[in-house]
Amino acid sequence: MYKNSCMCLHSLTFKCHLSLQHSKAMKATLRYLAGMAGPSGFGSNSTAEQVTEDCSSFLPSAALTALITGASSGIGAETARVLAKRGVRVVIAARDLKKATEVKKNIQKETPKAEVILLEIDLGSFGSVQRFCSEFLALELPLNILINNAGMFSQNLEFSEDKIEMTFATNYLGHFLLTEILIDKMIETAEKTCIQGRIINVSSVIHSWEKKDGFRFNDILSGKKYNGTRAYAQSKLANILHAKEIAKQLKARNARVTINAVHPGIVKTGIIRAHKGLITDSLFFIASKLLKTTSQVCKQTHSVQNLQLS
Ligand SMILES: NC(=O)c1ccc[n+]([C@@H]2O[C@H](COP(=O)([O-])OP(=O)(O)OC[C@H]3O[C@@H](n4cnc5c(N)ncnc54)[C@H](OP(=O)(O)O)[C@@H]3O)[C@@H](O)[C@H]2O)c1
Repeated sequence: MYKNSCMCLHSLTFKCHLSLQHSKAMKATLRYLAGMAGPSGFGSNSTAEQVTEDCSSFLPSAALTALITGASSGIGAETARVLAKRGVRVVIAARDLKKATEVKKNIQKETPKAEVILLEIDLGSFGSVQRFCSEFLALELPLNILINNAGMFSQNLEFSEDKIEMTFATNYLGHFLLTEILIDKMIETAEKTCIQGRIINVSSVIHSWEKKDGFRFNDILSGKKYNGTRAYAQSKLANILHAKEIAKQLKARNARVTINAVHPGIVKTGIIRAHKGLITDSLFFIASKLLKTTSQVCKQTHSVQNLQLS
């Protein structure tokens, strides 16, 4: 009898907890869609420029160095533009140096004094990531901010030169290796300068599509069952799990570096244009009324919002 009532109470508490979580998530979604400001004073309609407007009052006088992957277009390019505008030295890690040169030109047109360094990287290749890191470390620059932003989506099953499914290799493994190689540099910079370092993994709300099933490598590797959206969702879940694990390691090392995973919002960039098809096109046509502009979306990488795995 006592055991049964305890179980009932437990199940009731659990149900209340779930419905509370559900209503919190609903409220957060409504606030997001309406662009209402949160505790930070900014909402989903705020731009990266607005979020960083007053940063000169708390930014250290010594120049910060930020490394951004995939800054040759979309969210990465806008993030690079705003950071450079605020006086941050920006290292653009891109696989297409022509596109990156255009981004650099535009940044310097707006901010002539901006220091922008271009280095080649293909995140889908371990060899390329290692070469990139050697080149970057040879420059002997400090490293305060690492933004793991580059991402891809593919409708078809493709493999990297290391024989790994391409989306997982690019979105997750390339960034995993990059962070592993550069993390000591970040810790050392933070110690020397007494400025907290920041690592940001750009994930996506789509990660939650995978929460119940966990990783399904067999499905990903089967040509017949391949589903590009699921492969993308798995890679984005991996970005979050990576952030959680590195956060633990940084804490254990007492390092002055933090890591967060963010969902940047939804904006029609190259990655969304890759989702072709009648259903997807129609969904995006409807969603376009709610989509954010790239400058609104980029404030996430400047103001850092945690993605929680519940
Ligand atoms: N847009 C959205 O609504 C949305 C929503 C949630 C999350 N995100 C995330 O936001 C991040 C930025 O995406 P975006 O929307 O700005 O898309 P985007 O405009 O397509 O930018 C993606 C960037 O990643 C680069 N990239 C792709 N594969 C690469 C590789 N193998 N090596 C190096 N760079 C590579 C691309 O370089 P190239 O120019 O050479 O192709 C491009 O610069 C991604 O991680 C994405 O998953 C976006």
